[in-house]
Amino acid sequence: MNNSELISKALEARKFSYSPYSGFSVGAALLCDDGSVYAGCNIENSSFSPTICAERTAIFKAVSEGKKNFLKIAVVGADSENETPVNYCPPCGVCRQVMREFCGNDFEIIIAKSCDDYKVKKLSELLPESFDKREV
Ligand code: THU
Repeated sequence: MNNSELISKALEARKFSYSPYSGFSVGAALLCDDGSVYAGCNIENSSFSPTICAERTAIFKAVSEGKKNFLKIAVVGADSENETPVNYCPPCGVCRQVMREFCGNDFEIIIAKSCDDYKVKKLSELLPESFDKREV
């Protein structure tokens, strides 16, 4: 699956965002090494802290179905009123740490505005000198 196809799946997932409190809709699509794709959206809660980001929704869906080897993730986010993103939406720090749990430094994070406007970052770029109990 190429980057544009993965972004397209993230854009589709963004449509399912449940974000009445922030009014900010995020979608993500995670590509596993077996070619399967897990999509996710952000899901908010009136108590705020139970809110989960789109990236973690996708990753946890995959892990809960036995997948643990990931190649890349596409992320799109924007104010819910915008049908398509106007800015890039980099993953938050918590999601970067969750990626670190399951992904190597070469894991690719595709931060997209559209299927043909995106940048690709390695996890090691977005989370340098990261904590991993297995390595300290
Ligand atoms: N959000 C994500 O889904 N992913 C991120 O990486 C950043 C933030 C969500 C959480 C919350 O529902 C909304 O965006 C506003 O912060």
